[in-house]
Amino acid sequence: MDKTLRMRVGVQKSGRLTDNSLDLLHRCGLVYSRAPDQLICYGENMPLDILLVRDDDIPGLVIEGACQLGIAGLNVVEEHRLERLSRGEPGGLEVLRNLGVGQCRLCIAAPEGVAYEGPASLEGKKVATSYPFLLRDYLRRNNVEAQVVVLSGAVEIAPKLGKADFICDLVSTGVTLAANHLREVETILESQSVLLRTTMEVPVVSEEWIQRLIRRLDGVLQVRESKYIMLHAPRAAMKEISDLLPGSEAPTVMPLEGRPDKVAVHAVCPEEVFWETLEALQSAGATSLLVLPLEKMLP
Ligand code: PRP
Ligand code: ZN
Repeated sequence: MDKTLRMRVGVQKSGRLTDNSLDLLHRCGLVYSRAPDQLICYGENMPLDILLVRDDDIPGLVIEGACQLGIAGLNVVEEHRLERLSRGEPGGLEVLRNLGVGQCRLCIAAPEGVAYEGPASLEGKKVATSYPFLLRDYLRRNNVEAQVVVLSGAVEIAPKLGKADFICDLVSTGVTLAANHLREVETILESQSVLLRTTMEVPVVSEEWIQRLIRRLDGVLQVRESKYIMLHAPRAAMKEISDLLPGSEAPTVMPLEGRPDKVAVHAVCPEEVFWETLEALQSAGATSLLVLPLEKMLP
């Protein structure tokens, strides 16, 4: 392919989503070099480069076509969408996949000792946030009039500084809230990392590579939960054992040398295999049970 026709994927430069985003691209087979302070990582084996930017800039870069794909938190994507809608512009983004990493939630939090009995408790109060559009949308849906105080960072210290009565910020582990004597009182958005592309008319560099990357990503996302199970089973118990194998299609059944009464069973289980399942298989007569992680999978 033409060397000039390279695609770019926007990824958070440094933060919560950086490592798991780069890890996903690596698992999709992308080999790239990454030097410190470098904003572009050039893909060595695909016409795909990684643009490292602030997470808040990713939606805009993808909409305009500066990046053909982006990986960002749904919180940033939704904030950007509401901001565009408020200007009468189309949302402009399509969420192609939920990536199952970077989980967090946008919450309203109250200082310890401050009463909260539902959204009406916010009436006439000041709420500090870096997500004014999501917060205003929440307040509007709940018929609450409150003053939104926009801060670009350190939102959690706003109540202590007397700048706000409540805050609306991202919570992941809850450590930041606890350290600032705040307690979560409402969740206004559940978020995770998502893969994005534009819905606007921009020149598409290589639809073929975009689709190929998505297929590989699906393989990566699928094997993350999947396991390979191997066991020995009495031939007579095969029906019961097949039924116990979680979510697996027809398992592979092979003879065991010198043991006409027994078979070896191999199966891919597209979901977590719990100890309870293994114990049930054992009770049904299975022996030599092995559960292995999978690395790659294509349908
Ligand atoms: C969020 C939020 C809190 C922290 C909460 O910031 O603003 O500071 O994470 O996480 P915790 O519940 O695990 O303590 P983020 O990492 O998204 O950084 P950013 O606001 O600079 O994008
Ligand atoms: Zn951010």
